[in-house]
Amino acid sequence: MDNIMWDSKNYGENFNFVHEYGKEVMNLLEITEGMTVVDLGCGNGQLTKQLADQKVDVYGIDSSEAMLRTAREAYPQIPFLCEDATKFNIGKKVDAIFSNAVIHWIDDQEGLITNIANQLKVGGQFVCEFGGKGNVESIHAALEREFRKRGYVYKRGFYFPTIGEYTAKLEAHGLQVRFATLFDRPTKQEGEDGLANWIRMFNLLPFQVQGITQEEQEEIIRIVVEELRPTCYTNGTWYADYVRIRIKAIKQ
Ligand code: BEZ
Repeated sequence: MDNIMWDSKNYGENFNFVHEYGKEVMNLLEITEGMTVVDLGCGNGQLTKQLADQKVDVYGIDSSEAMLRTAREAYPQIPFLCEDATKFNIGKKVDAIFSNAVIHWIDDQEGLITNIANQLKVGGQFVCEFGGKGNVESIHAALEREFRKRGYVYKRGFYFPTIGEYTAKLEAHGLQVRFATLFDRPTKQEGEDGLANWIRMFNLLPFQVQGITQEEQEEIIRIVVEELRPTCYTNGTWYADYVRIRIKAIKQ
């Protein structure tokens, strides 16, 4: 995925649900005191801190300097490194790699899985959750239709695999899958502008790439939000149609 300019302040204030759900994923990790864990795609470091609180030797890794600045300010005692997920290397093999809501952003899945397998000790755990097949499909489809009407191309830059597709990739790299699930998780978006804010936060890329003016972006968002109201707005609350894939695998 091309480089995105993250708004780390807005993310921290309005997108806390990402970390809240991440806590459930963390429960899949078998934690022993002193083990070395990488939080891959740590963002503002909230989950990294929770790992540190469990007395593990944790490293936060992210490719966004804006997010890392926020993480370092909040948790100066934790090492946060600016590295590409497909190349990170902390200088020693690790006991576990944990990743929440990040893998769907990465274009080079082959490079990513190769690196994860290389950085884990034998017996090391890879625990992750990210967008699975069908994730936010109604939002993407509505944006795509509106882009097309206006003569723009809507680039679907995310990777949302099935369980079969992803577990086969992991096993081909010596990561034996012990647990995998794919499930619908309609995800609440706070406030009357919840869905519009989600699109503003996460769908920056198609807008940035095409150089669409701010005014037209807002017009597109307004139209798409109204189109989605019948399916995504229930009892006064907006929901994004998230589908999650959650996996635990062990390095052989
Ligand atoms: C997700 O977490 O599922 C997601 C976030 C941003 C864009 C697309 C999907």
